[in-house]
Amino acid sequence: MDSFELNKIMGAVLGTCLGVLSLNIAANAIFHPATPEKPGYEIAVPEKPAGDGEQKSAPAQKDPPIAELLAKADVKRGEVSHNKCIACHTFDKGGRNMVGPNLYGVIGREKGTEPGFNYSAAFKKAAKGAWTAQEISDFVKNPRAYIPGTSMTFAGINRASERADLILFLNSKSDNPKDLKAAAQAQAGDKPGEQAPAQGPADNQPK
Ligand code: HEC
Repeated sequence: MDSFELNKIMGAVLGTCLGVLSLNIAANAIFHPATPEKPGYEIAVPEKPAGDGEQKSAPAQKDPPIAELLAKADVKRGEVSHNKCIACHTFDKGGRNMVGPNLYGVIGREKGTEPGFNYSAAFKKAAKGAWTAQEISDFVKNPRAYIPGTSMTFAGINRASERADLILFLNSKSDNPKDLKAAAQAQAGDKPGEQAPAQGPADNQPK
């Protein structure tokens, strides 16, 4: 083959390359492949509102206080719903830290103090003191609303009674479980006046 023919072949090859390249550029421009801000997957389990009786935008103060809910809570149901946490947490004594810290004995534990776990800056800044049942309930309801910037990428559990079940279960995973039910009943009996605002129409959730 003479050099003229070779030139033609080279030209065709080059042309094809150029064509593929510009197609690629055009495709990138059109489809913008999104690179995530954080590497890895976000495991956010969406939570359906409890039932038709419950309104859509449920503000935190709509829920009855945890003490009241704990009186009706059930540790077996809590064990079922803790399955929503096990992708990231262990609950047994000496369990390892995973995406989230081990939660054995977390009620009454100083926030953000599980040895060897690297808490987010936002969490370390916001979390002070020991976890109370009420605070865990508020946190788990919507972690990223309770502590903006937390690395607990969990959508939350909207149903207050389910959170109470879960807290009873958490309480059982401890060296010294507290008698939360008795405490709840005492509290509910002691100051009926203080409980009043939480009752009423907001109280119509299935339990
Ligand atoms: C997608 C993973 C993930 C899921 C699911 C998850 N968590 Fe977490 N959790 C985390 C991470 C990460 C942290 C640490 C938060 C930080 O450092 O900002 C955390 C922190 C916590 C803390 C604070 C612990 C401490 O040492 O102060 C509690 C309490 C907690 N989670 C409870 C729960 C419960 C209860 C559930 C299930 C209803 C749950 N989490 C589901 C990832 C998760």
